[in-house]
Amino acid sequence: MNIKSFKIILVLTLFLFPATRADEGMWIPLLIEKYNIKLMQEKGFRLSAEDIYSVNKACMKDAIVQFGGGCTGEIISSDGLLITNHHCGYSQIQKHSSLQNDYLTDGFWAMSRKEELSNPGLTVTFLKRMEDVTDKVMQGVTDAKDNNEREKIISSNINEITASATASTGYIAIIKPFYMGKQYFLFVNEIFRDIRLVGAPPSAIGKFGGETDNWVWPRHTGDFSIFRIYAGKDNKPADYSVENVPYKPLYHFPISLKGVREGDFTMVLGYPGTTTEYVPSYHIDMIKNKFNPNMIGIRTRKIEIMESAMKSDPMIRIQYSSKKAGLANSWKKWIGESQGLEKMTTIAKKQEYENRLIAWINEDSGRIEKYGNMLSDYRELYSLMSQFYVVNSYTNEVFFNSGTEAIAFARNIKPLADLYKTDFNEDQENVTKINLLESGKNFFKNYNAETDKKLFIALMTLYGENVDPLWQAPEYVKLRNSCKGDFASVADKLYSKSIFTNEARFSEFVTGFQASAVSKLNKDPFFKIALSVSDYLSVNIRPELTRINDSIQRLNRKYMTAQMEFEKDRVFYPDANSTLRVAYGNIKGYLSKDAVYYSYFTTLRGIMEKDNPGIYDYDVPARLRELYRSKDYGRYVQDGEVPVCFIADNHTTGGNSGSPVINADGQLIGVNFDRAWEGVASDIAFNPEQSRNISLDIRYALFIIDKFAGAGYLLKEMTIVQ
Ligand code: ARG
Ligand code: GLU
Repeated sequence: MNIKSFKIILVLTLFLFPATRADEGMWIPLLIEKYNIKLMQEKGFRLSAEDIYSVNKACMKDAIVQFGGGCTGEIISSDGLLITNHHCGYSQIQKHSSLQNDYLTDGFWAMSRKEELSNPGLTVTFLKRMEDVTDKVMQGVTDAKDNNEREKIISSNINEITASATASTGYIAIIKPFYMGKQYFLFVNEIFRDIRLVGAPPSAIGKFGGETDNWVWPRHTGDFSIFRIYAGKDNKPADYSVENVPYKPLYHFPISLKGVREGDFTMVLGYPGTTTEYVPSYHIDMIKNKFNPNMIGIRTRKIEIMESAMKSDPMIRIQYSSKKAGLANSWKKWIGESQGLEKMTTIAKKQEYENRLIAWINEDSGRIEKYGNMLSDYRELYSLMSQFYVVNSYTNEVFFNSGTEAIAFARNIKPLADLYKTDFNEDQENVTKINLLESGKNFFKNYNAETDKKLFIALMTLYGENVDPLWQAPEYVKLRNSCKGDFASVADKLYSKSIFTNEARFSEFVTGFQASAVSKLNKDPFFKIALSVSDYLSVNIRPELTRINDSIQRLNRKYMTAQMEFEKDRVFYPDANSTLRVAYGNIKGYLSKDAVYYSYFTTLRGIMEKDNPGIYDYDVPARLRELYRSKDYGRYVQDGEVPVCFIADNHTTGGNSGSPVINADGQLIGVNFDRAWEGVASDIAFNPEQSRNISLDIRYALFIIDKFAGAGYLLKEMTIVQ
């Protein structure tokens, strides 16, 4: 091709696809007007930046909450009705479930406000306003200051700013660093704490496809649950009380029945947790080649053990389903992430970028002085970091995080034992004992000693094989030597002896605990290991990890500055940090692999295609089958089918679960709940070709509420746009 025809094609391409700039990015609501609104409108958005975020008028931000610690939810009625994911409400639904009222299996619908169920401890957080406070936070900080001193000044500035931001308002203020600490924003929040469960579909709908379909498109999950926010009579946050009334929000989302088409504008507003888009190649190398393989390996084993126990006994299924789901969710994501990084050759691309950056640095003596050692410092730090980080994570997986459960649980008794080292009064002793007995109840409710024994044998062996002897905790080494590495030979004895493997034994021990019991405790094999591992981590591993991490953070700030100077014309979005963000793009299918193209939506027909009563994850409820057979779809159809899920290229991550998916007119069209497998590495590198967020079509939620559950009365308080 000659230059001229190339130029013509280039011009044509630009002309034909004016708005196909990649939809990467999680943007700051306050800065939409400045950086994004033009492009958003080019992509089809018909409203203004003020409609999303404003402090002068009611707007979308007033209908979005951070739900619990790690999800998002949105308000869909003037009476404080809220929708989020089923997996976000899962633990609340589980807490209200019993064998008589198994809401996880059967679903739950409050048929009147009186029947709504309260959830102590659950909160939702509204953002009232945000502000760039970088200058105030950095007051008195200079480059010359060492890290400690720097942190001290910053945290004292932060305390002052947050105190004055909330004085006598009842609001809560927090300040979060952006761009690796180059910028700081203040968030003033209002937190409600009387949140009631209104409805949830059965797991066979809300978790349809289970772990099999998790992180995968095409998807058919009705992943939603409904709550209501209650407030005091003054419409302000209040502790639970029967006197409380439904919260009157400043704004709620209208719901669109118009449907979604390929190419439509979509926007996701929510609370993404963590991304690392601007890290050096060394970090990605650590994740892809050390952290992920180690963690995937150990979790594969844990999950296998739990799964086979769950298959053998319905009681164990109930006890371990939530633990296993937690382990499997990240496990599966890490696998997809590593594959994605490999396929995109992300490390090589980053290295190539770093080489260009180094060349640019070397062009100028000022830059050499500022940034000259940056990448070689990174290399050194990451070679240390990857050791300590992996040892720390691996050790936690073995001993604590749904690993050998009795060892993890044994740690809880330490505060009681410690009491006897000091002066204490009887009240303290009683309270500590009551708390312990309570945590024992919770622990043993979901505990099966035989399963734990299998975990113990497998995990002790793996720890010995995969953690350098240099970094193994002393009590573990003693145990291994005494059984010559054959943990199966000692497991029965340890499990029948330990205080922490049997509820009756544990309760009796705690109830009768006194000073003389400390020496018995100190002989318990699992308590000994738990203490030894904890001490070992906190003396030998974590301080190093913190030290290395501090140095990396300091370099990160520099590296971010260098990247911003190097790419002067690029608008950088900050990494996710659990603050409200705006992601936008279009509804779009994708090419999954050679010759396999996935279209952008799924329907009820696909649920019936998966239907298989013999497979737990695909067992469609009879009532849903019936609705399908009789085609009793009501108004929840598009082209004759009931829509279930759709995908778009909005940039999202963990924490965006439950986020509202909004159309060009600001109406709710879906609820975000997952990402597609092929693009799951987008926390590190977004791939416009394959990174897709997966959303529940709001019409499927309405269909389930109305036609399946017979709770159509709830729709009356929503604003539904035909
Ligand atoms: N992968 C989704 C998210 O990270 C959904 C998890 C819940 N669903 C499930 N089948 N485990 O968190
Ligand atoms: N399921 C995730 C969550 O719970 C959202 C999916 C993602 O990581 O994008 O937040």
